[in-house]
Formats: sequence, C-alpha cells, structure tokens
Amino acid sequence: MPFYHKLGNIPPKRHTQFRKSDGSLYYEQLFGTIGFDGMSTNSYHEQRPTQVKEIKRQYSVAPKIALKNNIKSYRFKGFQVKPEDDYLESRKTVLVNSDCAIVLAAPKQSTKDYFYKNTDADELIFIHKGSGRLRTMLGNINFKYGDYLLVPRGIIYKIDFDTQDNRLFIVESHRPIYTPKRYRNWFGQLLEYSPFCERDIRQPQELETYNENGDFLIKVKKQGDIIEMVYASHPFDVVGYDGYNYPYAFSIHDFEPITGRVHQPPPVHQTFETDAFVVCSFVPRLYDYHPQSIPAPYNHSNIDSDEVLYYVDGDFMSRNDIEAGHISLHPAGIPHGPHPGATERSIGQVKTDELAVMVDTFKPLMVTEEAMKIADEGYYKSWLE
Ligand SMILES: [Fe+2]
Repeated sequence: MPFYHKLGNIPPKRHTQFRKSDGSLYYEQLFGTIGFDGMSTNSYHEQRPTQVKEIKRQYSVAPKIALKNNIKSYRFKGFQVKPEDDYLESRKTVLVNSDCAIVLAAPKQSTKDYFYKNTDADELIFIHKGSGRLRTMLGNINFKYGDYLLVPRGIIYKIDFDTQDNRLFIVESHRPIYTPKRYRNWFGQLLEYSPFCERDIRQPQELETYNENGDFLIKVKKQGDIIEMVYASHPFDVVGYDGYNYPYAFSIHDFEPITGRVHQPPPVHQTFETDAFVVCSFVPRLYDYHPQSIPAPYNHSNIDSDEVLYYVDGDFMSRNDIEAGHISLHPAGIPHGPHPGATERSIGQVKTDELAVMVDTFKPLMVTEEAMKIADEGYYKSWLE
C-alpha cells in the first residue's frame, strides 16, 4: 500500500542491533516486491523466518480449462458454487489467464490447522457474505460484508469466519495490485478528486506474536501447486515492522461515486489497477441529471478487454434476469450493452442501489470446468427481442 505504516516495536535505525530482554537478537527480514524496487516492509522476528523443517505433499490445484478461445458472452450463477468446509478447497477458479484468476469460494470453516501463503499472486478478496478476522504475520484486520481485503503475495495468513455462511469473490493477480495512480500526487497522497482517501484504508492494527517451536504447517501456493511446508517456529512471530508492503482492507461502501450530467464511463468506478487488469466498484449513486439523459449505459465495444461483472446487491438496471452472486462475462471483440427494455426503463430514474464489482482484463480469459458447472449457455442470445 503506498503509504507508510508502523506497528509494534522496531529499532530506531534499520539494519542495526535490536535485542530482546535476554540480550539475544531479533531476526530482521526485508520483505520486498519487484526485486528491491517495489514496496517493502522491514520486520523483526522472534525466530529465523527460514526454518523449514520438512516439505510434505505437493499437488496441483491448477484450474482445468474448458474453453480457451472464447467469444461467447456467459452468465455464471455464483451462488451455485457449493459451500465446502476447507478454505482452500472451497476456492473454485472460474476464469483465468496468464495474469490473473477469478475465483469463487463459499468456505464454511476457518483455517484451523494450517497457515496459507500465495507466493505467486496478490489476493484481492471481496467479502460478499460473512464476517470475521484476517490474521496475518503483519497483523490482523476485522472484515465484514462489502470489504475488499488486499493480501500482497508472500504474506502468511489465516482467515477466521464468524459463521459458516460465507461467499467470497477473489482475484489472484500475478501483477501487483495498486490503487489507481491518477488518484495519487507525486508524494503518493490520495488527491481530493479520488473516490476514497487514506482514512478509508484499514491497516493491520493488532500483531499476534508467538515465540513457539513445533510443527507449523504452511500451505504454499506456487505455480499452480500447493506445497505443504512444515516450519519449526510459529509463522506469527513478528514483534514489529514498518514499511509499505502489508495487507489492508477497503470497504466498497466507502467508495464515493463520481456522477455527472450525462453517463459517466466505467473508469470513474475504478478502485484498483494493475498493468494487466482493472477493478471497478459500482455503488449506489444518483443517476445523470441532464434533462435528456439516459442513465443506462450505451452499447460499447470492449474490443481489447474481457469484462467480468460480479453482481453483489441491489437492482441491476441494465440487465434483465441478473441476481446477486451472478457473474457476467462479456468477452473482448464484440459489443455489449443494456438488455432489451433496459434503456427505456432507466429514463427518468434518479438513483440506483446497485452494488457490483467489475474486473476488466486486457488479455482474454479462459473459462474453466468449474465455471461451466454454473454457466448459463443461453445468455449470449439474451439481447434478442
Ligand atoms: Fe460493459
């Protein structure tokens, strides 16, 4: 995250002696991204973070591809993904390309007997249903409905849910996920016309620190495999850190919409960016106020990006027969637009309660076998009168 955060105890100067009460040294770890050029965090550990005790099972969780070269619009019924006990097993990749994976999950249980680390991808976890606590090596963050949780790659975490009724929409990104650059000044501060500001970003506020030895299982995701690694010391042993690379939360309900006299283009909804895709938040807002305005979007050709819309809540004005939990995929190369009647229906309306998350990828997405289980094959004809 592009602003500085400090938590716990750290020495006054980096890379200097920092001692425990018994006189021994804490173990420093620089946790950096993009080599040493990206954001980094400097953390201090009770024990060496390198104590691999054993490497156990390694198995593939790579998604099975059903459609590679796709130009068909699809609707997927996300809530038909069946709840499963285990957090990792519940995660079903539905759309994927070489930059990112779009994942649906309905986990019933918290991660009890293992820790998890994704070494390949930043994870953006949108909480559609459920609440709980994200517990990480760099501190904890409480979450609830509407939160985006951004977990940078390499952060070891556990996730605790308050109940068994959870629905997550996750984007795994091989490119770092940032807030849009155009909303930041040259010092990194969010500008006045940004739809959110620093106060809306929730940083970790509580460190869980254990100085324990034993067998600690970390399930590590790397190149489509899960590798079960046993460490000799507790992964949550950080006494303090500072820097820019840490997990954070941002609620979609804190996104302040930008509106205008005539229809505003999708970039006004942008919340996150990478160099491979963007994430937008469509939130309750007043409609366009030109006397002749048409609140429904115009038809548009996303000629060079695949558009994925995940419908969260409210009434989706431009679509017929879309419910919460549905995903629409409008692939690159063909135009799409409001369903028949939606344009006329929108005229004269003053506001919308819609809540949706959009992911526009610059490379085409492949449709997985998991997605085909919940696919509406007829959707691509739904613009016919
Ligand atoms: Fe669109």
